[in-house]
Amino acid sequence: MSKSSESSSNKMWGGRFATGPDAIMEAINASIGFDRRMARQDIEGSRAHAAMLAAQGIVTDTDAEAIREGLLTVLSEIEAGDFAWSAALEDIHMNVEARLTEIVGPAAGRLHTARSRNDQVALDFRMWVRDQCDAAIDALPRLMSALVAQADAGADWVMPGFTHLQTAQPVTWGHHMLAYTEMFARDLGRFRDARSRMNESPLGAAALAGTSFPIDREMTAKALGFDRPAANSLDAVSDRDFALEFLSAASICAMHLSRLAEELVIWSSAQFRFVRLSDRWSTGSSIMPQKRNPDAAELLRAKIGRIFGAQTALLMVMKGLPLTYSKDMQEDKEQTFDAADSLMLALAAMTGMVGDMTAQTDDLEAAASSGFSTATDLADWLVRELGLPFREAHHVTGSLVKLAEDAGIDLPDLTLEQMRIVHPGITGAVFDVLGVHNSVASRTSFGGTAPANVRAQVALWKERLA
Ligand code: ARG
Repeated sequence: MSKSSESSSNKMWGGRFATGPDAIMEAINASIGFDRRMARQDIEGSRAHAAMLAAQGIVTDTDAEAIREGLLTVLSEIEAGDFAWSAALEDIHMNVEARLTEIVGPAAGRLHTARSRNDQVALDFRMWVRDQCDAAIDALPRLMSALVAQADAGADWVMPGFTHLQTAQPVTWGHHMLAYTEMFARDLGRFRDARSRMNESPLGAAALAGTSFPIDREMTAKALGFDRPAANSLDAVSDRDFALEFLSAASICAMHLSRLAEELVIWSSAQFRFVRLSDRWSTGSSIMPQKRNPDAAELLRAKIGRIFGAQTALLMVMKGLPLTYSKDMQEDKEQTFDAADSLMLALAAMTGMVGDMTAQTDDLEAAASSGFSTATDLADWLVRELGLPFREAHHVTGSLVKLAEDAGIDLPDLTLEQMRIVHPGITGAVFDVLGVHNSVASRTSFGGTAPANVRAQVALWKERLA
């Protein structure tokens, strides 16, 4: 059997306990190893609570002032790294309060009036997650600006567009960059939505039922930057959907980051040579001197899994819990912290890589021109100029592709005579549509890849991001 970590019972709640917890009990129970990350939120929340208690005449102004000042001292000790964390005190809430008691004496004992750790932790964690939403809302436009700058430079650089990772049709580099800009803009919207929905204060819900003290929840909500107090105390202490919404938005954003990372890995390979990642975002091999490895993109792609994992884990924690608080919910934090760290790192790394990367325009164009990428342009020409039904045009084009393939050449290298054997109506004008630049320039339908469209969208994005 493991021994009790302390012979005496817990000084915060141990009134009815004769001995302290088993050491293993303490190890499984304590969250201070990770929830100390919410120290700032905890202290901010407690300061707002103390001010409200005084304003409502529940504690004296003198006691509230001592508490509020003492909390600032605690915060500065924590920020200076001078704080002696105690696992016996379980969590951030009791660590802070115990130290506050040492600093201000018995008045500290009045802070927990009309409050419980249940609304306290719901508040701290909500504020922490809200900060992470803000960080994402801040970081995403920087990534989008890097993409828009790439799009601006390469509005008319031609590259292959792929389906099934097979060359499909030529597209412009700028169009590809703006595709991700659209995705990250929706991610930004999801973080904003999640933030506005989570912006209700749980403080004052107390343990679960509210309190008999005449508290002013509007006042604390306002002081802590919330739009309003949460309307139902049971809901306020027991849901973690705000964290799940953050993790959902983070997961979708992470999925987008991972797809782009995957493209950078493929594009920077010697087989593709579509981009050159800068030295700042590449690593060498200890044995193969020719290597430039896209490690940041690879790690980013791999780290994304932790974010999905955090979301699944929290759904698992929550799905079986009856209302209201259960200690299971202490498991909401660690993986959310890790997911947020991973997301912020991934956003910063991607912003750096995109900002620094160089498109290899010659290789892009050569790749765009191979693989019969303008076959659709040819089929469209047959429809437009010769009045063929699209299905027949598709068939004729297929025969021309086969002819070129057998001869080991590309579509624009066929002679007019060769083409006319397949369809006698074809004229020399067809060559206009077989070049990749003409191909992309013709895709002017709204949302299409034409350089003119890309320039117009770049202008819009610059305005929005300004
Ligand atoms: N450390 C706890 C958590 O993270 C704080 C809330 C404790 N509440 C309780 N009733 N034991 O969930």
